[in-house]
Amino acid sequence: MADRRPARNDAGMEGLIASWYARQTAHDIDEFKRTAHRIAAYISAGARVLEVAPGPGYLAIEIVKLTGCRLVGLDLSRTFVRMAGKNARRAGVRIDFELGDAADLPFPAESFDFIVCRAAFKNFARPLKALDEMHRVLKAGGMALIIDLRQDFSPQALNDHVSGSGRGAISAAITKLIFNTMLKRRAYTRDSLAELVAQSQFKGGDIRLDPIGFELWLRK
Ligand SMILES: C[S@@+](CC[C@H](N)C(=O)[O-])C[C@H]1O[C@@H](n2cnc3c(N)ncnc32)[C@H](O)[C@@H]1O
Repeated sequence: MADRRPARNDAGMEGLIASWYARQTAHDIDEFKRTAHRIAAYISAGARVLEVAPGPGYLAIEIVKLTGCRLVGLDLSRTFVRMAGKNARRAGVRIDFELGDAADLPFPAESFDFIVCRAAFKNFARPLKALDEMHRVLKAGGMALIIDLRQDFSPQALNDHVSGSGRGAISAAITKLIFNTMLKRRAYTRDSLAELVAQSQFKGGDIRLDPIGFELWLRK
């Protein structure tokens, strides 16, 4: 599979949509904390970490609080770059949020020890280029973790995911509609993801499925 959506340009989430997304995902703070705890096991103090497409920055903030690492977040959305910077200052942590494209990372080769990318990979118009860019900017022995929705999630898995997050009824209904339409259309199956990774500079990775999503662990 080559990059699958060449006709489409990437678009960061801007303005009111970004603000709505930030309010909704603030409900998921426990999940961000749990993910940060698991990631922290792979990050030593002083490590250089990149979050690709951090959105409001919730995960980045939790990772830095736990590890004290030097983290850079890179997102295509001006709204999110501004918002994430504000959120980090409010949380009392130092993080550089920059504007940029996952498929054209503005960093020299071998810059990072760890890369994370959550709930964004399915949106990338040039996913193969994005993987190869992650490979380029990782140090030898460095790891990348991509977390996203699996296309074949069940209605039950979606119910559990949304009802466990403390959203109100209307917000839960809108969230489910978005998952079942836009997000499902763009999401990867295990097979389509494995095929893509095989073509990348990583050549292969470890794909772990859970009821609603996948984790793709990659090592350079
Ligand atoms: C659904 S949000 C996920 C945000 C955050 N990672 C989270 O877990 O909540 C998707 C993010 O991907 C960003 N994005 C989309 N295409 C991008 C690209 N090509 N390069 C960098 N960021 C991109 C959007 O601006 C948005 O912040």
